[in-house]
Amino acid sequence: MNQEQLVNLLKEVIYPNFEKDIVTFGFVKEMLVEGDSVALRVEIPSASAEVAQKLKDSITQKLNARGITKINLDIKQPKPQAESKPQGTKNLAPQIKNFVMVSSGKGGVGKSTTSVNLAIALAMQGKKVALLDADIYGPNVPRMLGLEKEKPEVDPNLKKLIPLQAFGIEMISMGVLYDEGQSLIWRGPMIIRAIEQMLSDVLWGDLDIMVIDMPPGTGDAQLTLAQSVPVTAGISVSTPQRVALDDGARALDMFLKLKIPVAGIIENMSGFICPGCGTEYDIFGKGTTEQVAKDFDTRTLAQIPIEPIVREGGDNGKPIVYFKPDSKSAKEYLKAAKELWEFIEEVNAKKLADNSAIQPVDNGKSACSS
Ligand SMILES: Nc1ncnc2c1ncn2[C@@H]1O[C@H](COP(=O)(O)OP(=O)(O)OP(=O)(O)O)[C@@H](O)[C@H]1O
Ligand SMILES: [Mg+2]
Ligand SMILES: [Zn+2]
Repeated sequence: MNQEQLVNLLKEVIYPNFEKDIVTFGFVKEMLVEGDSVALRVEIPSASAEVAQKLKDSITQKLNARGITKINLDIKQPKPQAESKPQGTKNLAPQIKNFVMVSSGKGGVGKSTTSVNLAIALAMQGKKVALLDADIYGPNVPRMLGLEKEKPEVDPNLKKLIPLQAFGIEMISMGVLYDEGQSLIWRGPMIIRAIEQMLSDVLWGDLDIMVIDMPPGTGDAQLTLAQSVPVTAGISVSTPQRVALDDGARALDMFLKLKIPVAGIIENMSGFICPGCGTEYDIFGKGTTEQVAKDFDTRTLAQIPIEPIVREGGDNGKPIVYFKPDSKSAKEYLKAAKELWEFIEEVNAKKLADNSAIQPVDNGKSACSS
């Protein structure tokens, strides 16, 4: 085997719990091939022993299958101390106090609808809110807020973008930075740059919270975001069908791996409310996210039924939580926003307590091990 064949082989090794391989992620730092022996140094952002083991197994398996048995594999991980906050080190938007990542394993389950209505619900409850549309592949937040024709202005002195405003929230999206329909093929480094720019090159106000609408899946965008700001809480959006649930669990698993505290699950398209007579029908099986929530030691924050006005509101820039606050869906969004905020306050209180309690112990430890 030569170097090139080794690289190609490593491109088949998917980083555990993500969709991309370790070469694409840039985790392979050194490699050496000599006859039937291979030496590798891989650096991964996770401090989890389980992730390292999984990775080790899959690399070994791939190499063994090609007849290579002399393997010197060094997997470098951050120290467990850094593990508790691998994504707390960097903050590209320090004027924002809290960040909430809205994710799902699968597309089309209602992340954007959830992000928009949650953000507005938080603003209705008196919070200062930003909404970041980080779905670079299909940014549809602008339309949902009726801002699809707007272009943000650039502050002439600071050379930064001024976020758009609607329903009391600030918003930036790739959808307002690029023309509609402009087909962009985003590769890893471009995704990273785009997300970093939307955080640091925008004049975000001094805000309580930023809600971040992610593209579907668990890939570059999610990893980049977690490394760019200290994400306070993660929300997984899932529909009640079994198959969608499995994808929802994937998003929850990703939060755990990235050390993002899980606020809960939004069960979307949970039953159907007939607009004619108001009767509620169970279509996909209501309440099935409860079990997943239990498995991950979290909770279902809201059950949003299928209501035609939810979709119409999205298409017409008239978010249901703002225009029909008495509807079942709006009430659920408002409840979820309240519970999310309570969760964030708990996380922050715990962080404070941990920091003051752990400080002296940390010092002692590092003195011993060095
Ligand atoms: N509870 C609901 N009732 C009725 N329609 C809904 C509901 N939730 C979402 N929709 C509609 O379903 C479609 C998909 O929703 P949305 O765009 O929010 O999903 P998404 O997860 O962000 O999708 P993508 O993965 O493409 O970004 C939209 O047309 C939206 O209006
Ligand atoms: Mg979306
Ligand atoms: Zn009816």
